Amino acid sequence: MTATPTGTGAAPPPAPASPTRALLDVYARVGPLLVAGEGAELVGQDGTRYLDFVAGIGVNALGYNHPVVRAAIERALDAGMIHVSNLYRTEPGERLAEELVARSFADRAFFCNSGAEANEAAFKFARKWSGKSEIVAFSGSFHGRLFATLAATDRPDYRKPFEPLVPGIRIVPREEWAAVDHAISASRTAAVIVEPVQGEGGIHPLDAEWLGFVRELCDSRGVAVIFDEVQCGLGRTGTLFAYEQTGVVPDILTLAKPLAGGLPMGAVLVTSGVAAALKPGDHATTFGGGPLVAGVALDVVRTIADPAFLDDVRRKGAWLGARLGQLAARCPRVREVRGRGLLWGLELGEPAAPAVAAARQRGLLVLTAGPQVIRLIPPLVITMEELERGVAILEQVLA
Ligand SMILES: Cc1ncc(COP(=O)(O)O)c(C=O)c1O
Repeated sequence: MTATPTGTGAAPPPAPASPTRALLDVYARVGPLLVAGEGAELVGQDGTRYLDFVAGIGVNALGYNHPVVRAAIERALDAGMIHVSNLYRTEPGERLAEELVARSFADRAFFCNSGAEANEAAFKFARKWSGKSEIVAFSGSFHGRLFATLAATDRPDYRKPFEPLVPGIRIVPREEWAAVDHAISASRTAAVIVEPVQGEGGIHPLDAEWLGFVRELCDSRGVAVIFDEVQCGLGRTGTLFAYEQTGVVPDILTLAKPLAGGLPMGAVLVTSGVAAALKPGDHATTFGGGPLVAGVALDVVRTIADPAFLDDVRRKGAWLGARLGQLAARCPRVREVRGRGLLWGLELGEPAAPAVAAARQRGLLVLTAGPQVIRLIPPLVITMEELERGVAILEQVLA
């Protein structure tokens, strides 16, 4: 791999002296200007290679410059249709819906452009289906930063400046049986939303038995179960959907991040019961499921759903989990290791940000998940050698 922008063969752009002031300061951007990517590596403008255990925060499941993604983009370009209105039929979106339905509990799919948008749509669908309005979410949750999803996100620092938030959305303690029993009302609650493996909240795989209890409560009280698999779905935990490992089937499931190989896309999968409550005009988005993104997503989903691909994720995930366990046993700064598949968190007894910065200095990109957790969410196509190389760097950083 060279340090030129991938696929163009062009010389790198001249190095800006400092970060632009033209971008809004809502991100604390760090590190170098990145100019190219290949597989599980990113390249900085000075030619430094970074092993990427961030993968666009779970977006780049197939890594950078994957031939499947390139070919699907080229096909859409050849057809000349990047976008066509949802007022008309196009083939990629229809095929993608059929693919997701065939591979899941769902009967219908709706396409949008991001994870938060998918969850906002899920809330509307649950309200229309149930005829009720309240939403129950859980401590440690992250469901997005639009208005309703922010109200369902358990991050006081994100919420406080934007109060008053959307009313009728409650956050109750995660994995507490009495609290959830008390919070779910047969007369008021439309839906419960839960990440089967909480991501931003610190990488917490939720107890399958408790999820089953939530399912039973919702069944008996006419409440929809929404699984937010925006971060933990599409092969990340070693099965195509995370719910497959819980024994619990939702009524509504949301997807986004890795769905379209790096292009912005979200999806809401629903049962026929939920679908029956919706009619033309109930929801819409201009860009959702256009032929470019849907065509790429179709090939991404087919690639990830291949049993050999998922076997490989499980094998690498099991190895990574065991290896991180060894690291933790040797390193008293690590309090706990949690995860599934290729989504892992190392809970430290101190802020995680300095270790993240130190890893970057050594050529490894990792990120936090809450203040004290180092999150590892590498591309699913990462090699064993790259995994070992990354963990070795982490070990030096945490020694
Ligand atoms: C579980 C979960 N839900 C929703 C979102 C929001 O997705 P987006 O940033 O695409 O709006 C995220 C983003 O990190 C997420 O991890």
